[in-house]
Amino acid sequence: MQFELTDDQQMVQKTARDFATAEVLPKAAEIDREHRHPKELVARMAELGFLGIAIDDKWGGAGMDHVAYVLAMEEISRACASTGVIMSVNNSLVCDPISRFATDAQKARWLTPLASGKLLGCFALSEPEAGSDAAAQRTTAERVDGGWVINGVKNWITNGPVADVCVLFTMNDRAAGHRGITAFILPMDAKGVRTGPPDDKLGIRGSKSCQIFLDDVRLSDDHLLGEVGGGFKVAMSTLDGGRIGIAAQAVGIARAALEDALAYAQQRKTFGKAIIGHQAVAFKLADMATEVDAARLLTLRAAWLKDHKRPYGKEAAMAKLYASDVANKAAREAIQIFGGNGYVTEFPVERHFRDAKITEIYEGTSEIQRLVIAGALAKGA
Ligand code: CAA
Repeated sequence: MQFELTDDQQMVQKTARDFATAEVLPKAAEIDREHRHPKELVARMAELGFLGIAIDDKWGGAGMDHVAYVLAMEEISRACASTGVIMSVNNSLVCDPISRFATDAQKARWLTPLASGKLLGCFALSEPEAGSDAAAQRTTAERVDGGWVINGVKNWITNGPVADVCVLFTMNDRAAGHRGITAFILPMDAKGVRTGPPDDKLGIRGSKSCQIFLDDVRLSDDHLLGEVGGGFKVAMSTLDGGRIGIAAQAVGIARAALEDALAYAQQRKTFGKAIIGHQAVAFKLADMATEVDAARLLTLRAAWLKDHKRPYGKEAAMAKLYASDVANKAAREAIQIFGGNGYVTEFPVERHFRDAKITEIYEGTSEIQRLVIAGALAKGA
């Protein structure tokens, strides 16, 4: 067993840490307060190769692996969870399925600009009536001469208001159930595509999400992603990888809570000494540090399995389930350590608390992760 990172992985980690510390962290509170899409940070991430980390350089990516992706995601999310999820969606939910299912012509047209950050992507699976039950798609794709006509509504689409391209899921044969689901690559400026107002969220307020309305949108066959009726497998296999990215985001949030609480506990004094000298505080920090490490190891293992072409769906679900729980617990404990100061916006830990919650919901709730893990156990995996 080998716990050392490669030179390339260490280089990506250091680049991400330097960028996150110098450029992302100083803006995180303002991005949250203003509900602002951090356009300039997205542009910098494109320059640094962070929008297509594990995509081959032949297609505009950085040509690194998923371990490097996880390391970078943790660093960026430690500074700003909103910036982290913008990056995660583009890498995991957009570039990854296009790299696996698109034709070379589609890759040249869409993957190269997406992986290099010239375009930004979103992933539209959820609908008002299809969240956890992703197979219950109501958006229709009707075959017409020369292509498809698409009608429907998508919900909670991260990056939706700012995306150029969308990996879109539709139902083209309701009687076939999940085998009637078909994926498309949708240019967001296609006629008939309209975005709703940005969702007003509890946390990750710099990450813009919205509804997408599709009214008689016409797409030619060269927008199909994978096979007609193969869309559910595109979605499920994509989410397996996405869950690794969100686990890394959760590790970043948990580490932010730990580091901020540790620094505070070393300078805040009560009863004549720094509060870290009180076991009630010290033991919380010890538990937080242990759990952050365990969550990180689960996340790195899932990424390593993906890099080594081994099955990783169960391990990705375990990593997301555990890391999202750790992030929420760490943020709650950080507020407790800060006391009254933890409850006001002057200090960062209330932001970590609000940002942590979404990691238990998107890309499959914690309950869905348990279903995936239990399903794998039942199959002997
Ligand atoms: N990879 C490939 N294929 C898979 C798969 C996987 N991981 N999981 C299931 N499948 C296939 C199965 O093999 C099966 O295929 P066949 O019938 O051809 O054999 C088919 O899919 C159906 O499988 P299930 O019967 O298990 O499907 P289900 O309808 O019971 O649903 C579920 C399973 C796990 C609950 C799934 O619906 C699910 O993951 N739901 C959660 C959806 C989700 O995570 N949404 C997040 C939205 S995106 C988002 O949040 C992005 C963002 O904004 C940041």
